Amino acid sequence: MTGHNLRQKYLNFFSSKPRNHLIIPSAPLVPENDPTTLFNSSGMQPLVPYLLGQPHPSGQTRLVNSQKCLRTQDISEVGDNRHTTFFEMLGNWSLGDYFKTDQLTWIWNFLTQELKLPKEKLYVTVYQGGDGVPRDEDTYQIWKSLGIPEDHIFFYPSSKNWWSRSGTPQEMPSGEIGGPDSEVFFEFTQVKHDPKYGQHCHPNCDCGRFLEIANSVFIQYQKQTDGSLKELSQKNVDFGGGLERMLAAINDQPDIFMTDLFQPIISEIEALTNLQYSDHQTSMRIIADHLKAAVFLINEGVEPSNKLQGYVLRRLIRRSIVKLYQLSGTLKPNYLSIIAKQGVISTYQSRSTPPFPNFFDSNQKQREIFSVLDNESQQFIKTLDKGLKQLNQLSPFDLYQTYGFPVEITQELYAQQGRELDLDQFNQELKHHQDLSRTAGKGMFQGGLQDHSQITTKYHTATHLLHQALRQVLGDHVRQTGSNITHQRLRFDFTHDQPLSNQQLQQVEDLVNQQIKNKLTVTCQTMSLQQAQSQNALAFFAEKYGDQVKVYSIGNFSKEVCGGPHVANTADIGPITIYKQESVGSGRRRLYAKIV
Ligand code: SER
Repeated sequence: MTGHNLRQKYLNFFSSKPRNHLIIPSAPLVPENDPTTLFNSSGMQPLVPYLLGQPHPSGQTRLVNSQKCLRTQDISEVGDNRHTTFFEMLGNWSLGDYFKTDQLTWIWNFLTQELKLPKEKLYVTVYQGGDGVPRDEDTYQIWKSLGIPEDHIFFYPSSKNWWSRSGTPQEMPSGEIGGPDSEVFFEFTQVKHDPKYGQHCHPNCDCGRFLEIANSVFIQYQKQTDGSLKELSQKNVDFGGGLERMLAAINDQPDIFMTDLFQPIISEIEALTNLQYSDHQTSMRIIADHLKAAVFLINEGVEPSNKLQGYVLRRLIRRSIVKLYQLSGTLKPNYLSIIAKQGVISTYQSRSTPPFPNFFDSNQKQREIFSVLDNESQQFIKTLDKGLKQLNQLSPFDLYQTYGFPVEITQELYAQQGRELDLDQFNQELKHHQDLSRTAGKGMFQGGLQDHSQITTKYHTATHLLHQALRQVLGDHVRQTGSNITHQRLRFDFTHDQPLSNQQLQQVEDLVNQQIKNKLTVTCQTMSLQQAQSQNALAFFAEKYGDQVKVYSIGNFSKEVCGGPHVANTADIGPITIYKQESVGSGRRRLYAKIV
């Protein structure tokens, strides 16, 4: 079975009777209007408002999709046979609809009947209780009733069988939701337990004999400010299963890089370096994973930089370059785009399952991807060799400053020599030279709460006003291509091929502020995408929407398809000022504005 078949099979299974799930598109890797986290790292992340009880715009309570995910926390583990930064997560959700019995029965049937995984190779885990929550007796009984023998059922504490984006009940910040989970593990035939991982092997042992392929989370608690867990009035199911891992199980092949979702990339690396995968697994896995992640990020408009998502992209690209260079001893600036084209894009192009956008089908998009990779390679290759030669003479900060070595790469090169890098010192030096990329700070990389604070909500409504004001002042060719909001400002990207004059900027700002002064009411209606379009609502991300969409109207000034949330009245925003404009590639401009 191919990865594409598996994705389709799962979507078919959950959307067909009697399960009747609505297939929803994958959200982008870079979450919109959520400054607290850099990437979507699980399928449930874009759905938090609905898991908390807000009705889904489709009106449905059963959803299924395959979500593109990026987990930077796992970056240091990439290189073994099962960890990646980028992956697709197959997910199904019950928003206060079905619960444990249906979920566990369906997923068991999917694995054993649809995928025909041998029952004796499957093991399940159950929450043993703790932190004031009882053992998950229901789940245990359901697994038994499905015929799973006692010796294939394992109980674990919160560290293993509790899921929230922040970890165990104790680690959850107030407001966070989560609950006990139940995982299914596959046992590979060819992997034998290695005693260096402990005397006894069990599903959660790290030896690689078992691989987690399915996780049903029963999201039924919310952390309170006093530290207690409160039952949510709506009990949800949040299922997630790694597409690449499930595929490895189907093939009884413990190395996910041997699946068809990676093989073309590995072959390209072998061809370029003239080396065999079997002799250089770790490096080739890192290159394959990082380059795939980079291609998906660039496809969403992320560009290498020293901040936020751009910095992660830069690290992914530069680390691939270092590894490729170390393997082949030589490097041309187009190596990465060759692998991207023949390996990554050929794997996903035209073969993504509806309703996904055909990821890389536009030639223009492909050219953009190659040009970003080529430019970044060109820049870095110029200095790479010199930097490597002076690795032991220069400080990590100088390597960063002069040769563009991300500190994580220097850290890794040091480790290869058995040396340790003093990260504190590096950070101090960096702080002296610039207003430290707070951005690269640890917290941001670990994911966080979906941010629906008042201030970001204000910026979100201001973004809609800005969008419409730009169209009125500059013309209807203006369309949003990106948006990013922090607690301090909004950033808005749109199509327009020349800088705005001061007069135009003033006009746009005045028009926005006039709407704020006018105290316009913000209203929301749910309707079909077609209906929204017939009412001339702005909807420029059609591939992201489901059948039913929310349309936010701001008085008679603006009408736009959007997930929300927004302020109730524009008077709640307060006047804004546009303080910066810049170009972001050809035909695109970027504005920054803040509430004064
Ligand atoms: N949210 C859970 C996970 O990421 C299940 O979807 O594993």
